[in-house]
Amino acid sequence: MTGTSHVDLQHLKPCRDSDAPIYLQLYRRFRDEIAAGKLRPGDRVPSVRSLASELSLARGTVEMAYQMLAGEGYFLARGPAGTVISPRLDAVDRSSRASMSKPKTQPATAVQTMSGSPKPFQFGLPALDAFPRKTWTRLAARSLRALDATAMNYPDPAGYEPLRRAIAAYLGVSRGITCSHEQVFITAGYRGGLELVCRTVLKSGDIGWYEDPGYIYARDFLHRIGMRLAPIPVDEEGLNVKLAQQKAAQARFAIVTPTHQCPMGVALSLPRRLELLDWAKQQRAWVIEDDYDSEFRYSGRPLPALKSLDRDQRVLYSSTFSKVLFPGLRLGYLVVPETHVAAFRDSANHLPGPGSILPQATVAEFMEQGHFARHLRKMRVLYAERRRYLTDALEQLLGDQIIIAPQAGGTHILALLKGQCDDRAVAAAAQSQGLAIQALSDWCMEKSTHGGLLLGFTNISDTAKSMALTLRLLNVMKKI
Ligand SMILES: Cc1ncc(COP(=O)(O)O)c(C=O)c1O
Repeated sequence: MTGTSHVDLQHLKPCRDSDAPIYLQLYRRFRDEIAAGKLRPGDRVPSVRSLASELSLARGTVEMAYQMLAGEGYFLARGPAGTVISPRLDAVDRSSRASMSKPKTQPATAVQTMSGSPKPFQFGLPALDAFPRKTWTRLAARSLRALDATAMNYPDPAGYEPLRRAIAAYLGVSRGITCSHEQVFITAGYRGGLELVCRTVLKSGDIGWYEDPGYIYARDFLHRIGMRLAPIPVDEEGLNVKLAQQKAAQARFAIVTPTHQCPMGVALSLPRRLELLDWAKQQRAWVIEDDYDSEFRYSGRPLPALKSLDRDQRVLYSSTFSKVLFPGLRLGYLVVPETHVAAFRDSANHLPGPGSILPQATVAEFMEQGHFARHLRKMRVLYAERRRYLTDALEQLLGDQIIIAPQAGGTHILALLKGQCDDRAVAAAAQSQGLAIQALSDWCMEKSTHGGLLLGFTNISDTAKSMALTLRLLNVMKKI
């Protein structure tokens, strides 16, 4: 290293016996050195080539770790001048604590229900035609045959234990989260997890920061169960934490989609992540991390979860099987701090929980036997392809009316409308023609500055279908 840092390179050396991939270990070592202050903003980091040679690692492995660190804002590449620890980490102002202002709440919005037969452009659906039905049916039949007396008894309120173990193992490898199965609670989708959180660590009337725009279905749910939400603007770095502190510093919770903001698609920057965790620590508030689609990132590796930075145990991590398997399963999960396992178990014991253990047992087998990892790998390739089909069609037919917002991943495209076009009017007209398009304005709590359309692409399987559906949208827009 070039003399400015205080790190012995051998400290970064990954352990060959560990289960975690080498690139992930290297990424974590760097992150720990930064958190411990041994690497400081502005310090130069060794080149990929010299670190690879020093630690006897493949260059590609080091490169992967560096890409993750750069993607999350830890590293800043300065071309020929080399790579440094991001100077922006210095900009994290841990002291600003503005006074709380009364948050605005909005009445619940009438949004499209998503049940029934899937419609073109439907938001949030995985590719139903690509689901490995044969494997699933075989495993489901096996789970049924294996049903023993324990499985037939009243279930564990935290969910089926083998599934909780499989999730804990998966999170360790894929999301950088270290947890035991005791900390994992299976829930009836994301909303089941939110209900468990609200009933365990929050109370009716509590104020929470909510991304604006943000996931509309959870927003309505939270309003209905008595939470008060303070809309916090999202910019290119994700939720604006400083503004949130000015608007509602004493909020009891914040709900964020840090890996892939829903619906704007940006990642929460590292400085913002640190600010958010610091705020939660100071206020003893909860951060609810909604990690709903992090598996689908088409450039680079998935970004590690916010939870992986959570030293003070203020993050409640939530994810769902709706995108990676299918939403009809109604299965999600929540990871809670060790200190709160008993309280969460107590609440779970008094709630309906995730239902029958049979689908949980099938998912557990699916994960344990490696089908899950295989399915994700296939879907990443398929979705990148399908996204390109739709992007190409939109650019070709609607290029003068829309701008496609850049997104590193996800299962939807956000098409921002140029000019003064009313997105609600477009979405309503499209819906009347059977196209399940949603308006960005409906996802905003405060007046939106930009009209946009949310377009699910995962079930549009080829170029011809993409063109035909985009043509239908073009015809709708011509009439507005
Ligand atoms: C932002 C966000 N969070 C969570 C979910 C998952 O919700 P559920 O588990 O209820 O299907 C979705 C699904 O579309 C989503 O878009």
